[in-house]
Amino acid sequence: MANPPTTTTRPAAPRRSSPLRTILIVLAILLLIIGLIILIIWLAFKPKHLVYSIESGSIREYNLSDTKHLNTTFNFVIRAYNPNPKLSVYYDKVEAWVSYDRQKVAYTPVGPFSQPRKNATDLAVNLVARDVVLTGDMVRKLKRDRTGGAVELDVQMKARIKFKMGKWKSGHRTLKVKCSPVFVRFPPYKSFERKICDVHT
Ligand SMILES: *[C@@H]1O[C@H](CO)[C@@H](O)[C@H](O)[C@H]1NC(C)=O
Ligand SMILES: *[C@@H]1O[C@H](CO)[C@@H](O)[C@H](O)[C@H]1NC(C)=O
Ligand SMILES: *[C@@H]1O[C@H](CO)[C@@H](O)[C@H](O)[C@H]1NC(C)=O
Repeated sequence: MANPPTTTTRPAAPRRSSPLRTILIVLAILLLIIGLIILIIWLAFKPKHLVYSIESGSIREYNLSDTKHLNTTFNFVIRAYNPNPKLSVYYDKVEAWVSYDRQKVAYTPVGPFSQPRKNATDLAVNLVARDVVLTGDMVRKLKRDRTGGAVELDVQMKARIKFKMGKWKSGHRTLKVKCSPVFVRFPPYKSFERKICDVHT
């Protein structure tokens, strides 16, 4: 096992390079292991997409004047579901709006809220259209819809969110939710077809 004294000078060169090789191999293996650990952690905690749906929708105090001004209130129950078993979600700045015929007719901020893991939260969102000026085309279309008993709307939300796990917090992300089309019936009809929304973070 001990080196014969006569070979100390000559094989010294290959022996010096072999510890270097060992260090490189060890480093490579370490990097690989660290990479694998990061990959596993990332896969385990990678935020799953939040799920949004509109559970109910109704129209109240509908009044379309002859001067093409619209007053009405849209009530929606928007369900936010956080499917993540490890991550809670913080919603900082939440906004919701509703569009008719691609024109925004009502907007409302929604209070900040936080959502525990595996939690579904129902948000009651009231969108009030006050003296909204419509184009002639929109008025004609809306009158037809009124007679038909239902309107086709787009409901959208935007929020600044953060994921949290224990003491760790992610950076801010922008959440965009689009529910389209959402059919809402005029009173006295109450039925509503649940709508699953598109979600982007
Ligand atoms: C609609 O609004 C107009 C103007 O404010 C008012 O005169 C009318 O009575 C309202 N109609 C209904 C059904 O509320
Ligand atoms: C809408 O509401 C505003 C304020 O409440 C009122 O001045 C206006 O006359 C209303 N318009 C209609 C069409 O009801
Ligand atoms: C979801 O979280 C909210 C707020 O913490 C709580 O009020 C609600 O009961 C939770 N819902 C479920 C289904 O766990």
